[in-house]
Amino acid sequence: MDGQAAIYPGTFDPITNGHLDIIERAVACFPRVIVAVSQNPGKAPLLSLEERIGLVKEAVAGLDRVEVDTFEGLLVDHAARRGVGVLVKGLRVASDFEYELQMAQMNRSLTGVETVFMVATPQWSFLSSSLVKEVARFGGDITSFVPSEVARRMKEKFRGEA
Ligand code: COA
Repeated sequence: MDGQAAIYPGTFDPITNGHLDIIERAVACFPRVIVAVSQNPGKAPLLSLEERIGLVKEAVAGLDRVEVDTFEGLLVDHAARRGVGVLVKGLRVASDFEYELQMAQMNRSLTGVETVFMVATPQWSFLSSSLVKEVARFGGDITSFVPSEVARRMKEKFRGEA
């Protein structure tokens, strides 16, 4: 078991400053952080898996001790494959908690994997990937909510759609 690492999972469609905030703070708590990009076809992501991974890699490029990987299927199986016993999840608002609590309990009963919750910085607690996409789709300015490369990519993606 790699007691040194924690996995921060998500769809990251796309990564936002809220995700980045959690990653930066997780790095301060764990020797290594693996950002695991879920293929998540059920969520019908706007961006391809390769694009999402590329944008996450670009966003964490300046951070030491952060690795980016991907998984499909159960998160607990991925954690077991990587030999990681801790998951990191962010909590933005109270309603996140109910859902996350259920997932944490299910994951722990499946393999014993632990979940550590980090409370979102209030500045980012209203952010979600869907909201960012909606604002971008209709021509709104998302530059203060996402890394610059994400803003550029979203603009390109929605050019002519607004
Ligand atoms: N800042 C900004 N946005 C945040 C955030 C933060 N700190 N934390 C969460 N969000 C947003 C996400 O962008 C996402 O937004 P969206 O719904 O608009 O796209 C939303 O909140 C939900 O985030 P999250 O709970 O992290 O879900 P996710 O879809 O990104 O990823 C998985 C969820 C991949 C971790 C989960 O579905 C999973 O484990 N899947 C694998 C299958 C499995 O094991 N299932 C059994 C689970 S018990």
